[in-house]
Amino acid sequence: MRDVGWGVLGAGWLVTRATGEALRSAAGARVVAAGARDLDRARSVGALRAYNSYRAVIEDPDVEAVYICLANDAHLPMIRMCIEAGKHVLCEKPMVLSAADAASVFEQAAEAGVLLVEATWSRWHPRMRRIVELVADGAIGDIHAFLGTFTGVGPAPDNYRHSPDMGGGALYDVGVYPLQALLACLPEVEEFQTLELEHVRSDRGIDLTTKAALSWGAGTHATIVASFVMPASQRLVIRGTGGEIRVEDDQAFTSWRTPSELWIDGRIESFPAADAYQVMFEEVSASIRGEGGWVLPARDSIRVARAVDALR
Ligand SMILES: NC(=O)c1ccc[n+]([C@@H]2O[C@H](COP(=O)([O-])OP(=O)(O)OC[C@H]3O[C@@H](n4cnc5c(N)ncnc54)[C@H](OP(=O)(O)O)[C@@H]3O)[C@@H](O)[C@H]2O)c1
Repeated sequence: MRDVGWGVLGAGWLVTRATGEALRSAAGARVVAAGARDLDRARSVGALRAYNSYRAVIEDPDVEAVYICLANDAHLPMIRMCIEAGKHVLCEKPMVLSAADAASVFEQAAEAGVLLVEATWSRWHPRMRRIVELVADGAIGDIHAFLGTFTGVGPAPDNYRHSPDMGGGALYDVGVYPLQALLACLPEVEEFQTLELEHVRSDRGIDLTTKAALSWGAGTHATIVASFVMPASQRLVIRGTGGEIRVEDDQAFTSWRTPSELWIDGRIESFPAADAYQVMFEEVSASIRGEGGWVLPARDSIRVARAVDALR
């Protein structure tokens, strides 16, 4: 496969700590250009060329696909700019801040004939892929109870995650992970009924904590907890009429370069260490080339965005 030429927007925490290296290591990908507000920081991404302009990355003729790794409020305008330039897009989660915007950008991408994918890396992790496969194969019957928590990542006080105008808040930042897992396990569900909803808000108005109980039919119950301030926890328990699946290592959504396990009714399945960021870049690159490659379905991004809308 001919390598896909990638451009990167942003030189922040995630791309300098994890995804930049994963993209450089990914088979089928070549990191052509990176852009940040500051040129020296753009250079730190390790691309062939660095710019102090996002537009310059998007317009670089060797860039075929753009990975957007910016503060949440910047995603929508950058996605639109990339699509208008005819570039494929892989955008960090939450891709956009409403279901209406999600539907609209996917429509724009389809019309332009480019691929648009939300980079919720947990969905590419082999263990999560296996969970979804087990559930789809009926290994635990019909799901009636779900627990997903992602708590304990307290951002620095000056980080955009504390700004209501920049898509801050725990639900956007970490709540989308358990919601992605829930919806992946319930492919036929479009809408949830909210049974209970509790927010703890900061002085600036973002949700420091969101706790929700959801239902998708009689006798069904999902608990979702997202928090910047609660003790660190990443739990995942999925109970069906025929059994239960659990992640017991408290790394349900961020297992990274370390072996992992899955508990299925007392039986353990083991997974070798994986870098799900790298898997994501490889699969998206293959998909761009039309050579297979699994990508997070647009429908799942829209359904999660709709659930987030309801919980906000
Ligand atoms: N998949 C994952 O595991 C994972 C983990 C963490 C984050 N994320 C997602 O990745 C994205 C970036 O997260 P991050 O932790 O890397 O964020 P970050 O370091 O706080 O910020 C990322 C970039 O956004 C721009 N930015 C930040 N604050 C800004 C401000 N006040 N005004 C203008 N631009 C600003 C900067 O771009 P410049 O570099 O151009 O200055 C910055 O480098 C977010 O959408 C987040 O949800 C995903």
